[in-house]
Amino acid sequence: MEKVRLFDKTFKQFIPNARIEQAIDEVAARINRDNEGCTDIPVILCVLNGSMMFTSALMKRLKFTCELVSIKLASYAGTSSTGEVKEMMGFTSDITGRRVIVVEDIVDTGNTIVSLVQKLKDHHAREVKICTLLFKPESYDKDVKLDYVGLSIPNAFIVGYGLDYNEVGRNFEDIYVLDTEDTKMKYYVLFGPPGAGKGTQATAMVERYNLHHISTGNLLRKEIAAGTELGLKAKALIEDGRLVPDEVVEGMIESEFKTVKGVKGFLLDGFPRTIAQAEALDAMLARSGEEVTSVVSIMIPDQMIIDRISHRAAIEGRADDANVEIIKNRIETYHAQTEPEIAYYQKSGKYNEVDGVGTIEQVRDRIFALVDQF
Ligand code: IMP
Repeated sequence: MEKVRLFDKTFKQFIPNARIEQAIDEVAARINRDNEGCTDIPVILCVLNGSMMFTSALMKRLKFTCELVSIKLASYAGTSSTGEVKEMMGFTSDITGRRVIVVEDIVDTGNTIVSLVQKLKDHHAREVKICTLLFKPESYDKDVKLDYVGLSIPNAFIVGYGLDYNEVGRNFEDIYVLDTEDTKMKYYVLFGPPGAGKGTQATAMVERYNLHHISTGNLLRKEIAAGTELGLKAKALIEDGRLVPDEVVEGMIESEFKTVKGVKGFLLDGFPRTIAQAEALDAMLARSGEEVTSVVSIMIPDQMIIDRISHRAAIEGRADDANVEIIKNRIETYHAQTEPEIAYYQKSGKYNEVDGVGTIEQVRDRIFALVDQF
């Protein structure tokens, strides 16, 4: 699996199982060397739950007589350490006077290890060695020596091979890292000729991907109703029978980007309509370090545009849908002004086309199959 989804988060493959097994081979070889010919029975201390997979794999490779003892500690909530280490279950056997090899899945801040070493001292362990499959050196700020480290990794949140996100993901045989692309705001442009089904599909996309739908027509009405400075300008122009200029529309969209919270991204519908607007959108997003994620283009042949719009006119009664001449004009405007955007977005590799011929559900599923990849 390349990517996995757990609750609200996406993780991508990070350390394949073969690399984990190799690291365990190396650690086991060192532990075997250090315990060769020992006359006591060292304790292998499994720190539950995270270490259960590692402990099992490690113990299978150990060549000396040893005893398994467990303890259950918890310090993580979601994707970050709480800083407080809770003992959920104490040592399952007496470790007084014993040599203990602690087996940890991961050492991050080191809070768990510090607390555990103190517990082992309190229980009079004779010697303590620390073995961890994974280590985040950038996060570790403690003095406890880590005797056996499988792999050092960057400071990122990972799951799999015993490690969890809110108790799930432990069963993956590979290790996955939180996909930061997933937390980046998405900016989708819904593109296509009039009558392609953009409005219908926008509703489905908004729901599935938790997006905020931005339709320029709706926005204008909202700004006017709210009586904002922008709305007043737009109202004056509209009442004057003139078109609202690009910079007004762009201003509205930018303010929407800045004010709408709690969504994973935006779905632009009806904007950009020209290359100039596409350039303005790129510049606007670049100012805040963002970019268009993808253009989703719904394609249908011209004749179907006329048929669909005439059909819609009968149902919705939109004035601009009723007259074939007006429809033809809109198609021409689309070909002349909007279609050149295809080449613009193809250049940056952002243009993706979906066949718009079929039932609403068929087209929707094609869109979902495409957008699921981003
Ligand atoms: P520390 O106390 O900060 O060193 O963290 C140790 C414990 O936090 C580990 O035993 C895990 O249970 C948990 N932990 C730390 N980093 C991660 C991670 O990236 N994914 C899942 N759990 C983690």
